[in-house]
Amino acid sequence: MVKERLDFTRRTCQSCLHQLFDGTHRGGIMTVSKSPLNAGGFRFAIERDGKEVARARLYILKNDIHEEHFGYVEDVHVDEAYRGQGLSSDLLDELEKVAKRFGLYKIVLHTESVNFVAQSLYTKRGWYVVGPTLRLDLEVAA
Ligand SMILES: CC(C)(COP(=O)(O)OP(=O)(O)OC[C@H]1O[C@@H](n2cnc3c(N)ncnc32)[C@H](O)[C@@H]1OP(=O)(O)O)[C@@H](O)C(=O)NCCC(=O)NCCS
Repeated sequence: MVKERLDFTRRTCQSCLHQLFDGTHRGGIMTVSKSPLNAGGFRFAIERDGKEVARARLYILKNDIHEEHFGYVEDVHVDEAYRGQGLSSDLLDELEKVAKRFGLYKIVLHTESVNFVAQSLYTKRGWYVVGPTLRLDLEVAA
């Protein structure tokens, strides 16, 4: 699936990439260089009754502003039947412990402005709102 997507990208954007990197893109004013980045992280999960019922991801990222890495939290989810039992708190306890152990200077995440349950979960733990999140929807090839 991923490979097909990459092939698709190569096929359809070859000429646009060529234009971008030989400086002819958008009037040929500048050349933009690129280098690949490697990002890793951890997936946390809790099992109950022999099946996974709660999960979260911590991606470890870097920018050019700080020496230290930072974390991005994604996909915090507890199956409906298991909510209200402290499972997401257990997941975040472990996730935050790992983040500290790895020397991350901050952890960030996105939640919907109407998701008051999630906001309560995080703010009780010391997380705070820093500003708006912006999103751009992209068309992904089937
Ligand atoms: C948000 C979610 C992960 C919480 O998981 P959970 O295991 O039920 O949460 P916990 O039992 O550990 O509760 C932790 C805190 O969350 C908040 N919370 C949980 N359920 C709540 C509810 N029904 N109403 C209000 N606050 C609630 C409370 O602050 C709670 O702390 P408290 O028990 O001291 O009041 C879960 O509801 C979920 O998976 N929702 C759908 C996916 C989602 O919204 N994920 C977050 C994306 S950022």
